[in-house]
Amino acid sequence: MSNSSSGPGGTLFATSDLHIGYQENREIVRALHPRGPEDWLIVAGDIGELVADIEWALGVLTERFATVVWAPGNHELWTHPSDPVQLRGVARYRHLVELCRGLGVHTPEDPYPVWQGEAGPLRIAPLFVGYDYSFRPVGAVTKEQALARAHESGVVCADEYLLHPDPYPSREAWCRARLAETEERLAACDPAVPTVLVNHYPLVRQPTDVLYYPEFAQWCGTTATADWHTRFNVAAVVYGHLHIPRVTHYDGVRFEEVSVGYPREWRRRGGAAPSGLRQIFPEVAR
Ligand SMILES: [Fe+2]
Ligand SMILES: [Fe+2]
Repeated sequence: MSNSSSGPGGTLFATSDLHIGYQENREIVRALHPRGPEDWLIVAGDIGELVADIEWALGVLTERFATVVWAPGNHELWTHPSDPVQLRGVARYRHLVELCRGLGVHTPEDPYPVWQGEAGPLRIAPLFVGYDYSFRPVGAVTKEQALARAHESGVVCADEYLLHPDPYPSREAWCRARLAETEERLAACDPAVPTVLVNHYPLVRQPTDVLYYPEFAQWCGTTATADWHTRFNVAAVVYGHLHIPRVTHYDGVRFEEVSVGYPREWRRRGGAAPSGLRQIFPEVAR
């Protein structure tokens, strides 16, 4: 990697999909260190499923990074049978937000922190907007048809069984509420300061076009955010969830998929365990 030393104000790094339920991935977190004392870390969801695991990882990272910013992934929001914390839906999300606050981690419920590094200032906005089954497979017009197609192909996201929307009647209803709240907050931000949008899902549909199972896209975001990267003076979008780490551009805006993914995935990609750190700013020449 060239041009990767930490300048004044440090480096803005990102990671996601650490999935530390896997021992090998827990080791990645143990080895994950900043380059300098001023470096920030964005964690774009899917640390793990158990509250105690999430607390452990964020605790380790807050001891090392000057600032840690978190957006929830679907796995954090699961009510997994093996988790002693059996909270569901909004109550579970709020519990995680309080846990983060206790550690000093910035969440989507807090004022968006401003990074003052060399390429700054940049507002870092962790989002939680969910999905609403609008990324439907070709030919499926309704959510029901999209889900039926997924069941036929045998590719059904475990969210259907583990991610409860309580007290909302559905995950898409929860998503709609989150969209309205989030849009209002972003619209109220001073547009003079560019923003880095951080969300577990990609905000635009295009990144899901390369999914091996196209039926899976319905659990990967919402068409309602398709113009957010052009509406809100966005410097970059950071996301995960797809487990397809890469950099793409839409309408001239850089989108960084920063996931580590499951051990079987990163082994297939190159063998050695990934560092788990993606430099977001200053921008790296690629
Ligand atoms: Fe993931
Ligand atoms: Fe995910």
